[in-house]
Amino acid sequence: MIPFLSITKKLKSLIISTFLVIIMISGLQLKAQTPEAEKNFQACKVCHNISGPKLIGPSLSGILERRDKAWIYKFVRNSNEVIQSGDAYAMKLFEENNKIPMPPHNLTDAQIDDIIAYINNGGKVAAEYANAAATEKVSAEDQMAAEQTAQDQKLADMKRDANRNFGTPFYITIAILLLVLVDLFVTKIIKAKFVHTVIILISLFIIGEITYKEAAALGRQQFYQPDQPIWFSHKVHAGQNQINCLYCHSGAEESRYAGIPANNVCLNCHSQVRQGKITGTVEIDKIYKAVETGKPVEWIKVHNLPDHVFFSHAQHVKAGKLDCVQCHGDLKNVDVVMQVENLSMGWCIECHRKTEVQFADNKYFEAYKDLHEKVKNGEVKKVTSEMIGGTDCMKCHY
Ligand code: HEC
Ligand code: HEC
Ligand code: HEC
Ligand code: HEC
Ligand code: HEC
Ligand code: HEC
Repeated sequence: MIPFLSITKKLKSLIISTFLVIIMISGLQLKAQTPEAEKNFQACKVCHNISGPKLIGPSLSGILERRDKAWIYKFVRNSNEVIQSGDAYAMKLFEENNKIPMPPHNLTDAQIDDIIAYINNGGKVAAEYANAAATEKVSAEDQMAAEQTAQDQKLADMKRDANRNFGTPFYITIAILLLVLVDLFVTKIIKAKFVHTVIILISLFIIGEITYKEAAALGRQQFYQPDQPIWFSHKVHAGQNQINCLYCHSGAEESRYAGIPANNVCLNCHSQVRQGKITGTVEIDKIYKAVETGKPVEWIKVHNLPDHVFFSHAQHVKAGKLDCVQCHGDLKNVDVVMQVENLSMGWCIECHRKTEVQFADNKYFEAYKDLHEKVKNGEVKKVTSEMIGGTDCMKCHY
């Protein structure tokens, strides 16, 4: 009896300790292969393979043999800072990768550790997570769909507001005018004729005013949002992948035109990135087709000023130090570009009157010696574009 008992006891403890070891091992795996790491790595995946060919950036397997963790933390959070600091490795890497900036990622040390572990595991999630990961993917898609609907809704609201501005008062005024005319000639309820006269004059004035405004707006195209030949999304590029506007619109700092990037700029990345999350290969294939046939993509111009107006990007972006957002809206959150401002003369002038120019230490305005003097002795508190000629007709009209 007794030996048998001790065997079962030993067996018991063996089983228990085996369990413990299994739990510990799977516990270790939990740490290294969490769905969170996989989710965070989605943002890296478009530019990095774990092993296999280089995409936009180098493949990341064996990264810990090349760099220590402290460096990786810094580089992932803000690669530009590391390159600017003169780090020789980073500068060389940047050159070798066609000077394509790696966008900043707002991740903690722990999250980056997790990603590194995931990379070292060959990019796999432990089996017990597979289902959970699938559900998360679905909810991420739901969220994207919800964002899209919110964006569409906002756009519809803006368009409706713009139309409502004039539409409703216009029809109400016409209705009142008709009523008064009917009363004047037919029903004759209101006895005092001067009441009719006053109402008729006011109505005519309002109708005239609205018609004039509508006519003046005729050449303008606020909220114009044409479909483009390729479904190019600013949200995907400038938003999610944080590519700098000037990477594609390099003219904006130096010249009158911001410019639309040529096919070979797209190829810098799309020689490797052959598929998009939203449109698959359909839209990106159009880039290759355009390159093959040698025909430039026929982008439809969204913003159009009349020929008699002079406008220069350099003057606003470099000298005026304005952000693109101030005139083009928040394109980082928009898939299809839309003209959000009306580009009227009133819009230009209003900003020239209001906006304080960054006057001090700006070599573009060195010539204004008198004004600098006045700023210095406190006579002038704030310099606007208007004060340096920004509302002269000749500045904007040929
Ligand atoms: C838009 C493309 C892009 C994305 C997204 C991206 N990277 Fe990069 N990454 C690059 C490029 C390009 C380089 C090469 C350095 C350069 O050009 O700045 C690089 C370099 C690196 C390096 C150094 C590689 C080496 O061999 O020394 C690490 C580490 C790295 N990336 C990690 C990440 C991680 C982690 C993520 C996701 C959180 C990520 N990257 C997302 C483009 C990207
Ligand atoms: C002060 C307002 C303003 C600012 C700031 C501004 N833009 Fe523009 N942008 C315009 C106007 C107005 C047009 C239409 C010009 C025309 O039709 O001649 C335009 C047109 C464009 C075009 C298409 C035509 C072209 O010029 O090649 C692009 C692309 C563009 N802007 C990008 C940018 C980017 C990128 C920035 C930031 C670096 C920026 N813009 C800053 C007002 C502005
Ligand atoms: C600096 C790198 C870079 C440049 C330059 C670039 N792209 Fe992209 N593009 C990307 C990345 C990263 C994605 C995201 C892939 C994904 O959805 O996973 C992408 C996605 C796309 C998609 C698919 C969007 C989707 O989600 O379905 C299209 C279409 C596209 N790009 C067109 C262009 C065109 C046209 C140009 C040139 C005007 C261009 N791209 C320039 C990096 C770039
Ligand atoms: C990867 C390249 C790329 C990046 C980055 C990019 N754009 Fe563009 N942009 C394009 C292309 C291609 C078009 C033409 C197709 C279209 O209108 O969507 C365009 C069109 C525009 C237009 C409309 C021009 C017109 O026809 O009037 C504006 C304005 C603009 N971009 C501003 C910006 C701003 C602001 C940013 C930064 C937040 C930015 N872009 C980042 C490629 C890019
Ligand atoms: C968001 C504000 C803003 C808007 C909108 C704006 N501008 Fe400007 N503009 C500036 C600033 C700031 C400067 C730089 C100060 C300066 O040179 O007067 C400037 C300068 C200029 C200049 C040079 C003036 C000079 O003194 O040499 C011209 C021309 C000009 N803008 C034309 C336009 C036109 C045309 C539009 C409308 C289509 C426009 N701007 C819309 C802010 C704006
Ligand atoms: C800051 C730039 C700017 C200045 C300064 C400016 N304009 Fe304009 N003007 C515009 C723009 C932009 C348009 C075209 C958009 C529109 O239809 O409102 C325009 C349109 C016009 C038109 C055509 C009317 C129309 O509705 O199409 C006339 C006429 C005109 N301006 C006269 C003047 C006169 C006179 C002055 C001097 C008192 C002046 N402008 C100063 C930017 C300017």
